[in-house]
Amino acid sequence: MDAENRIAELIERIRYHDQLYHTDDAPEIPDADYDRLKRELLELEAAHPELARPDSPTQTVGADPSTLFAPVEHRMPMMSLDNAFDRGELNAWIDRAQRRLIAVRTRRAAEEANSQGVLLLAGEEKRAEGEVTAETGATSVKLDNLVCELKFDGLAVSLRYENGVLVQAATRGNGRVGEDITANILTLKPVPHRLPAGAPQVLEVRGEVYMPLAAFDALNAQQDAEGKPRYANPRNTAAGSLRQKDPSITATRGLSMWCYSVGEVQGGPELATHSATLEYLDSLGLPVNPETTAVESVDAAWQFVEQCEAMRHDLPYEIDGAVIKVDHLDLQQELGSTSRAPRWAVAYKLPPEEKTTKLFDIHVSIGSKGKATPFAVLEPVFVGGSTVAMATLHNEDQVREKDVRPGDTVVVRKAGDVIPEVLGPVLADRPSGLPEWVFPEVCPCPHRAELKREGDDAAHYCRFLQCPEQLRGWIEHFAARNALDIEHLGEQRVRQFIDLGLIADVGDIYTLDFDLIGQQEGFGELSVANLATAIEASKQQTLARLLVGLNIRHLGDTTCEVLAEAFGHLDRIMEASVDDLAEVDGIGPVIAGSVHEFFRSEVNQDIIEKLRAAGLNFAEDSDQIEAEALPQTLEGMTIVVTGGLEGYTRDGVGAAIKARGGKSPGSVSSKTTALVVGENPGASKLDKAEKLGVPVLDGAQFEQLLETGVIA
Ligand code: IVH
Repeated sequence: MDAENRIAELIERIRYHDQLYHTDDAPEIPDADYDRLKRELLELEAAHPELARPDSPTQTVGADPSTLFAPVEHRMPMMSLDNAFDRGELNAWIDRAQRRLIAVRTRRAAEEANSQGVLLLAGEEKRAEGEVTAETGATSVKLDNLVCELKFDGLAVSLRYENGVLVQAATRGNGRVGEDITANILTLKPVPHRLPAGAPQVLEVRGEVYMPLAAFDALNAQQDAEGKPRYANPRNTAAGSLRQKDPSITATRGLSMWCYSVGEVQGGPELATHSATLEYLDSLGLPVNPETTAVESVDAAWQFVEQCEAMRHDLPYEIDGAVIKVDHLDLQQELGSTSRAPRWAVAYKLPPEEKTTKLFDIHVSIGSKGKATPFAVLEPVFVGGSTVAMATLHNEDQVREKDVRPGDTVVVRKAGDVIPEVLGPVLADRPSGLPEWVFPEVCPCPHRAELKREGDDAAHYCRFLQCPEQLRGWIEHFAARNALDIEHLGEQRVRQFIDLGLIADVGDIYTLDFDLIGQQEGFGELSVANLATAIEASKQQTLARLLVGLNIRHLGDTTCEVLAEAFGHLDRIMEASVDDLAEVDGIGPVIAGSVHEFFRSEVNQDIIEKLRAAGLNFAEDSDQIEAEALPQTLEGMTIVVTGGLEGYTRDGVGAAIKARGGKSPGSVSSKTTALVVGENPGASKLDKAEKLGVPVLDGAQFEQLLETGVIA
């Protein structure tokens, strides 16, 4: 695969995992694997700068905020951190920062000299362009006032105090726009609702919300007692707990917070250093972590890192590393930031803890897309902050590569303290004659359909679409909020309908026998009517949501929107070749192949026909037919809309544009004719429009444009 395609593939995969981690709080891969993908992308971009894309995840932070909460625009962006994985990378960070300071200072001195009419010597001019390095430059800088902090494993939030009162709290979101979680933050015991008299007019405090281990264990004990599934780890549970629609649930979760920096400040004391800032926050009663240590050399910072490693499991909360920051604020200012991370700080990521345990057996589980994933059944072992009894082994090749066999003693770790991982066997402890594990030939469900290895990702699939193991997952996915949004068709009912033989694929949802359902235990007249109404309503969902519901491999919600937008009708997507699909902006070769393959399957085609017969909406917007009658004022124009516009729903505004012959994609590019800005617009679209010189219109100008086709 060439670099361009690999970059496209990496971007696709990283975005997918970003969404799972930041928005869904349900990562699928260990942090270490994610970091590896990111690193590979960074390296490729560095080697091929001409292929670097401004929308690459290496240039952005987190994921777009969920639509469940009101958006909050951060007045100062909430940034991420660059990582260092060993001592060499920590040194390299300091060297880079020092060189940068020299370059910045030399350039500034040259500019000043220039503005005073002083002639520069050739060498100085070169330095003025910022080409000077620590080795060649006359100046030298030593960054030795550093602050070492723990890297808390939770989620970043920003608290805004106005005149000492907590008025707003927001998640980081994509760094520019986060989610309003004020009501939830107010339930956190360590977060003061009011600051003492004399607090600044405006004080934005940034920090990490986390779940202490004791709270996590108590929550899981409660789950056990109620026979409910356990939570996987404190970080995701903290994120899920903070992003509850009902703050009274957040209140029961025992969340806590550590503050580690400030955003906007007005009317505060003059503070020269980061350590003084933290002391100030502490004096206001805000929670500041007591392990924070100011040091005077990189060597001392490294010692801190080593201490972190030693004490990480004695702490009552989880950390995933240490953060080293330049202490002096004027130096921080001089160093500045890249688009995603400050240059004055670096995160040292701790390697995950490892333990040994017994591998009892290897089983296979079937996912909602039919993927057969082998997993290790382990003797329970406490590692990385929780007990591990199972661990994914990903696929056949991984099992073979690791050479793990049932009966082995194996090394287990919690990669990034999220997902347990089996590293390999302790060969010295292997009983003699232990046989290799062989991938099962058939699916574990009662139909025992064949498991076939397909594609180039070494995965086996059960292609028997009525396999109850995957059917349940698919139907739940189809009915989920972001797909066809069928209320009253939850996990338990799906299971019940499958067991009753009422549903063998998602198409059967639309021919359910409600009389029969009404006779089942737990169903009254009202619940049957509610279910029937919800199913009927789902037929009007958009094409994009229908695509989400089809559960096509590699397709996320955003990609579904892109496809719906580009093709306008399910039939056109079904007919499209791989090349047609891959031509669409935002669709890479992997997705194109997967979409094409999905629609080639006869079983899937039958399902689509059932959905068609049931009257589901296959067109991008149902207004399209009447729309042709309207004057085509926007022909050839591409109008992007951000934020809510009075009198329109989100889909409605797109329909109004298309009805007049225009296009309305989800993002701004050089092809955009105008950006229309409504209530709570997305900052990134605005920024991009400004950068590209795309005209920005308000609601009234938009109305005029619709009518006349002229930008006022
Ligand atoms: S400073 C502009 N300090 O790590 C600098 N971040 O990987 C912003 N984090 O988004 C971050 N502990 O959520 C900082 N002591 C600490 C931290 C910390 C945890 C998180 C934070 C950030 C992420 C970046």
